Amino acid sequence: MRSVIDIVDLTTEELDELIKTAVDIINNPNKYSEICRGKKLATLFFEPSTRTRMSFEAAMYELGGHVISMTDAGSSSAAKGESVADTAKTVSCYTDIIAMRHPKEGAAYVAAKAASIPVINAGDGGHCHPTQTLADLLTIYREKGGFDNLTVGLCGDLKFGRTVHSLINALSRYNGIKYVLISPEELKLPSYVKADSIKSKNIPYTQTTDLESAMPELDILYMTRVQRERFFNEEDYLRLKDSYILTPDKLKNAKADLSIMHPLPRVNEISAAIDDDPRACYFKQVLNGKYMRMALIIKLLKEAGTI
Ligand code: CP
Repeated sequence: MRSVIDIVDLTTEELDELIKTAVDIINNPNKYSEICRGKKLATLFFEPSTRTRMSFEAAMYELGGHVISMTDAGSSSAAKGESVADTAKTVSCYTDIIAMRHPKEGAAYVAAKAASIPVINAGDGGHCHPTQTLADLLTIYREKGGFDNLTVGLCGDLKFGRTVHSLINALSRYNGIKYVLISPEELKLPSYVKADSIKSKNIPYTQTTDLESAMPELDILYMTRVQRERFFNEEDYLRLKDSYILTPDKLKNAKADLSIMHPLPRVNEISAAIDDDPRACYFKQVLNGKYMRMALIIKLLKEAGTI
């Protein structure tokens, strides 16, 4: 059974195909409004979420399907000690596809191994968040018309930021990409991500702690939150949490067509004063996430022979 746990589970051709489907959904929503009629999505969220869960649910409704949701692990039998594998086997009896978020790295993989229906990883700890990357890709595609020859600045928590790791893997497949990695020393991009997705492909990159000096060359600025839930030590979190705060004055040397992105939720990383700047794309990402999740649900249910 085909599941999507990591962005590497999708080939470049499949990423392009999902973008094409999402664009078609945007242009011809009626064509897709009954495609999942009578089918059910289970959203199993063992960790908080606003965008991912609600966009999966909106996606399934807009495809004509139904949703069964578990939004609080405390109200499920997980609270009695039921394993992720048993939960996945159980939910397979009731629904056609699962979207699952869990605080533990690898939990989505365990669920996919046990389930008899497709499982989509909606975030597993600091590991992967492939559908956020799909949202990011559609946003870049719609803003820039493609992925080639972009200079992409990634700023904030590059160590624990699962969206950053997946986005780098995806963008590194295209031509002429260059990265500027902007983070405090303690939150630098892990060596394995650098080795696997940047160095192995001879992709040019620079590392800096200074956002403003990097700004003029950027086509994309991808801001991230320093995630309290990933820190073992509250003192370190408090010291690092406000390392980068994007305010209008910091954009004075930015390109006129810069795209400012953020997977959200934000805390202080982007001032609300930037929200009306035409370069702000983070709420477009939210909407694009729904379209890409629609495209992914269709793809996996078609491959499973369910629709
Ligand atoms: N970007 C994202 O995953 O948001 P939520 O945590 O609200 O789902």
